[in-house]
Amino acid sequence: MALRPDERVDPSRQLVVRGGWWRDAVIYQIYPRSFADGNGDGMGDLQGVIDHLDYLERLGADAIWLSPFYVSPQADAGYDVADYRNVDPLFGTLDDFDRMLDGAHARGMRVIVDLVPNHTSAEHAWFGDALAAARNSAERGRYIFRDGRGASGELPPNNWQSVFGGPAWTRDGTDGQWYLHLFDPGQPDLNWRNPEVIAEFQDILRFWLNRGVDGFRIDVAHGLIKHDELPDWHQKAGQLEGGGNRGPMWDQDDVHDIYRGWNAVLAEYGGDRILVAEAWVSPAERLSRYVRSDEMQQAFNFDFMTVGWNPVEMRRAIDSALSTNAAVGATTTWVLSNHDVVRHASRFGLADPTRWPSGIGPDEEQPDATLGLRRARAATLLMFALPGSAYIYEGEELGLPEHTTLPATVRQDPSFFRTNGAEAGRDGCRVPLPWRSDAPGLGFGSTGATWLPQPEAFAELAVNLQEGVAGSTLEFYREAIAQRARLGLGRGRLSWNTVGAELLDLRNEGIRVLVNFGKAPLELPAGSHVLLESEARAVADGHLAADTAVWLQ
Ligand code: NOJ
Repeated sequence: MALRPDERVDPSRQLVVRGGWWRDAVIYQIYPRSFADGNGDGMGDLQGVIDHLDYLERLGADAIWLSPFYVSPQADAGYDVADYRNVDPLFGTLDDFDRMLDGAHARGMRVIVDLVPNHTSAEHAWFGDALAAARNSAERGRYIFRDGRGASGELPPNNWQSVFGGPAWTRDGTDGQWYLHLFDPGQPDLNWRNPEVIAEFQDILRFWLNRGVDGFRIDVAHGLIKHDELPDWHQKAGQLEGGGNRGPMWDQDDVHDIYRGWNAVLAEYGGDRILVAEAWVSPAERLSRYVRSDEMQQAFNFDFMTVGWNPVEMRRAIDSALSTNAAVGATTTWVLSNHDVVRHASRFGLADPTRWPSGIGPDEEQPDATLGLRRARAATLLMFALPGSAYIYEGEELGLPEHTTLPATVRQDPSFFRTNGAEAGRDGCRVPLPWRSDAPGLGFGSTGATWLPQPEAFAELAVNLQEGVAGSTLEFYREAIAQRARLGLGRGRLSWNTVGAELLDLRNEGIRVLVNFGKAPLELPAGSHVLLESEARAVADGHLAADTAVWLQ
């Protein structure tokens, strides 16, 4: 039977699924500099991805999302793009990209690339032109330049703080105007009210669509449009401040016009391509606006990610995500970790497992690794049971912890420097992956070089020690992803059984899922057949151990 471009066969269910592959996809995030190093320089690259495509296929990933690999001075690990249409030599070439894309497609995996539209690098040609041009020029009009306050313009135009700490404005040396950067000074914000910026990014989308990508993860999707008057704001412009806290730099209504334009561009290409919003927006209803039928297809569900190990809040986050997305005809996503947050195997091992630290440094509370991993696996089993699409962050399938003792001397995250070390920052979740326990650099590359040092704990979590080992975190992920696909959980319908203060108890497609958040073992219903446990012997003597989860049939 010939399939239309928007159809696929779900082999586990012998169904032809029409459109919307993303609706239940498991999407694997690759942070290119830390995934695998193909040329031995200590920095991960596209060749490293190519070398491990079989691994990703074997894991059961439907798609991969790559964080930026574009030309960049790396002021923010590539989220500062100097040329949107080329690969940074650190990561390879456009030809490597095409080979990677072909290799993924040949294995039935889709590829999503990162688009960074809120800001360019300060080394982007446009910004150089803007600095060289006069005030009020077309060149400056692509960014947000303003005169300063004070008698001689010596004060920033408003009081906004950068997400990474310090003022969100830098004064340029040429004629004393200030430019806005919600992140690092090396990341000047673009002016999205300028039609030239809109046209340029539609062209960038087409550049990558023409190469065959399946979608884009949109960086800072809630930040492109600023309130026209740039009014003062009484808080740090932190992306993580939720609770309906909507500063004049975030989630402005006009931003949606941009995404309607992009939706139309993707539609020209057919074949189910997607836009995924990285939007730190709350409440869930505001976030759902980004996935209305003429805008994006997905938005990361950061509410679920940030609630921590807490059954009441998890259930609330699950319910509100499902209902607000359903109201606009979208499905939701589930995320527990990414390259910006403390890995969940470590977060859940903190004395307060709902705490949300901005990185963890050597002088701070150190997580309980065993407890953290146990809870992480339980949360993961819950996540894979939920209807919608699940995002996994490279290394979580190995149970990797955060590197919590990185010395200041090796840190690279601008948020560490801009807060004078008050925030440890994000380096601890970005450490190169361990592929082989017996090789230098744990097999990250051929030479043993790694751009950040790996913690001791990584050695026993290397891929070669987990592959084929029953009960390992890697085999647990493989099994859960395969069962999830076989049972169609991603397209299922969730219902809750009971609400216990220390228990989550839900059903989806004939599967009952129990998560024990309490301190004592919980009695399971008589005659339950255990399909999958979050760890070996989670179920014993008819009881579910504390901090574990189970799928029953
Ligand atoms: C969100 C990205 O995930 C993060 O890594 C980056 O620092 C900021 N956006 C700025 O681009």
